[in-house]
Amino acid sequence: MLIRIPRGSDPNSSEITPEQVWRQRRRFVEAMGLAGIALATPGLARTAADCQKALPRLKGVKPSRWKVNEPINSFRDITHYNNFYELGTDKRDPARFACHLEPRPWTVVVDGLCERPTRFDIDELLTGFPLEERIYRLRCVEAWSMVIPWVGFPLSLLLDRVKPLSSAKFVAFESIYDPKMLPGQRRRVLDWPYREGLRMDEARHPLAILAVGLYGKELPRQNGAPVRLVVPWKYGFKSIKSIVRISLVEKQPPTTWNRIAPDEYGFYANVNPQVDHPRWSQKKERRIGEFLRRETLMFNGYEEEVASLYRGMDLNRWY
Ligand code: MTE
Repeated sequence: MLIRIPRGSDPNSSEITPEQVWRQRRRFVEAMGLAGIALATPGLARTAADCQKALPRLKGVKPSRWKVNEPINSFRDITHYNNFYELGTDKRDPARFACHLEPRPWTVVVDGLCERPTRFDIDELLTGFPLEERIYRLRCVEAWSMVIPWVGFPLSLLLDRVKPLSSAKFVAFESIYDPKMLPGQRRRVLDWPYREGLRMDEARHPLAILAVGLYGKELPRQNGAPVRLVVPWKYGFKSIKSIVRISLVEKQPPTTWNRIAPDEYGFYANVNPQVDHPRWSQKKERRIGEFLRRETLMFNGYEEEVASLYRGMDLNRWY
């Protein structure tokens, strides 16, 4: 594995984050002394390594036809270079502070415009749906990417269980909000809880999954345990972690990054090398663990599968 060496062409964090957010983030990191607070919190009696060792292997996982013919990133890369602001804003923070997140007991409420609103216990999600391995590219808006062997099931299967009404046009997702548990939520770095959304046809697309594991084991905490969304043709920020609520709604729901900086982070957030971010190009990406940059693929390489969802839409406008 190659060790990452920052290069002059990599965007600085001041380029990839709206200014008010990185200013706030710097104050946050300096003022909060995240490590100090963390040590005073019970979760850190265990180290991140302990939390990873303890991850149970998932049963009955079937291979799927969804795989990419590119090297898969190592477990270490996937679990030590993360964005999960609830656990800190540095890429290494989620691994360092992973033990703060307690993924059991956990329920996911599915409600809103549906016939059968339901509260799912996490163990029902692990045993009541057909688990598959899906090897997907994850392309972050910050112009890095990874290949990750997720374990999960199509989101559409969960939606079927609650029987959406025809008035349900969008799906809204909400992450856990618990500042006592999650050190990052003790400051308003983001407008907590983290929220995301999809149009109903996007949510029902077979590529969109709820992931409950990776590398055959339950999801590591820093990757969004115990259940997260993975939408591989969209920038990584759409793949919301540690979900507690999924609501079927009529109107396009507000989403975290879009509310902070609508000019920079669109609701759709489809990976598109032809539409630059206002402050940097999206034409290329750095695969974590590699030196040379790769060309970014339209819809992250899933054009054949998803382009029809956006037929007739001006993708410069609906970025
Ligand atoms: N979900 C929550 N709740 N909080 C976050 O900060 N970060 C997003 C997304 N989901 C984030 C989140 C971003 S910006 C990215 S790129 C992906 O998670 C990163 O997923 P990974 O750390 O598993 O690679």
